[in-house]
Amino acid sequence: MKFFIDTANLTEIKEAYDLGVLDGVTTNPSLMAKEGISGDEKVKNHYKAICDIVDGNVSAEVIATDFDEIVREGKELAKIDDKIVVKVPMIKEGIKAIKYFSSEGIRTNCTLVFSAGQAILAAKAGASYLSPFIGRLDDISFDGLDLIGQIVHIYQNYGFETEVLAASIRHTMHLVKCAELGADVVTCPLKVITGLLNHPLTDKGLAQFLADHAKANS
Ligand code: G3P
Repeated sequence: MKFFIDTANLTEIKEAYDLGVLDGVTTNPSLMAKEGISGDEKVKNHYKAICDIVDGNVSAEVIATDFDEIVREGKELAKIDDKIVVKVPMIKEGIKAIKYFSSEGIRTNCTLVFSAGQAILAAKAGASYLSPFIGRLDDISFDGLDLIGQIVHIYQNYGFETEVLAASIRHTMHLVKCAELGADVVTCPLKVITGLLNHPLTDKGLAQFLADHAKANS
């Protein structure tokens, strides 16, 4: 299972990378805005800065919603660095663009996926990654994890090469359940990755080991 971090914050990306378990980064326009990044040049420079930190893929999302503009914007993004994966929304023009990018050897991440039908369409178009949003489904009383299981099953049935990249992950149990269900990738905030470290028995056990060692060596 690959771990991506879902942020445009360079400090958090560096912290996750330094942990030694990071396989890539995903961003979206909201996450870029949160960091105060705006304007073509600044956006490109920021993506480059992210690429310079990590060894894996960096998803950069297009803003355009019509085919020609998605293709133009996606090609510009792909030129920034070999690590860039063009993130394209699950809309009709997006699917056409994913098919085009696939024929040109440009990797894509199909985003804003909320149903198995959308997942089939994206795989047929040749998306490299598919981003179903678990948390946003949970928010409206649909089971996001059920969707992950369903998509993994369907992709296995047909040997689709599109990787299931579980997104909108809100807590560690989302991540653990995605691992059980066979998601290829999880993208999550730093707190979810570091949250995996926590167990009170680990803290208690370590405190005891250190106390015993100190007593024996005093
Ligand atoms: O990057 C897409 C996705 O992970 C967004 O998550 O928490 O805004 O629903 P969230």
